[in-house]
Amino acid sequence: MPLTMAEVMQVIQRYAPKGFVPKIGMILGSGLSALAEQISNPVSIPYQAIPGLQSGSIVGHASLLVMGYLGEVPVVCLRGRLHLYEGVSYEAIRILVRIVKNLGCNIFIVTGAAGSMREEAKAGDLMMITDHINFHPGNPLVGPNDESIGPRFVAMENAYDNGLQEVMVAAATKLNILLHKGVYISTLGPSFETPAEIRAFKQWGADAVGMSVVPEVIIARHCGMRVACVAAITNAAAGLSKEKLSHEGTLQFGEIAARKLTKLIPEFIKGASALYF
Ligand code: HPA
Repeated sequence: MPLTMAEVMQVIQRYAPKGFVPKIGMILGSGLSALAEQISNPVSIPYQAIPGLQSGSIVGHASLLVMGYLGEVPVVCLRGRLHLYEGVSYEAIRILVRIVKNLGCNIFIVTGAAGSMREEAKAGDLMMITDHINFHPGNPLVGPNDESIGPRFVAMENAYDNGLQEVMVAAATKLNILLHKGVYISTLGPSFETPAEIRAFKQWGADAVGMSVVPEVIIARHCGMRVACVAAITNAAAGLSKEKLSHEGTLQFGEIAARKLTKLIPEFIKGASALYF
């Protein structure tokens, strides 16, 4: 018997503070969990306790769903993501993202580490994602569609919400944080790309490459959440620099980018809530 969202939400509500309705949800990628530490009055649920979810298993991922406040704004934070390369199903990623929607969020912030294909976007920088190329070998909405969640065919034209992009740029400007803009391409991983693949992706119009983001954004758009996305640039993509690519290296530069994200996202949330709530 497939799991229903009602069953999943029953478990979440058992942990949630009474009457707690988050307005903004977010998912934090590899090495970017520092922001979760800023959440006040946190209530955490390990992914293992949520029906249908396995724990993320790789170093740098502490898999917790955290409910609490950033400033005055009630938020839910997915601290650690589930990657396809871990062998997790699209079903598990659907459950994770739809929990955010079912708790009450209409805005979903996606963060993730990425390699840069642009000279000016350096390791440690941030890049706001404005569009994507789904190069995963599938789509998270394949299978029977539940019309009560969203439509069979989902438009992806404004997937990275124009209004939220303006709020993000305003927040970065206010904090004097350099924020590049670019197109993200998703690869399955876990191997990094070859230099030949990177040359091809550049020609397709991609600016950053990573192993996540895209499934979550498609699922979030399907259930009607507006999406904002910022990638933490952790390295120059394969073949574009003399540095050897490694997970340790991505964590090191992820930390530098995470410090900026930890300032940027609360400012963005302030701006978005003034505008939309
Ligand atoms: N490629 C894919 N995923 C990544 C990279 C990269 O260069 N850097 C961080 N995540």
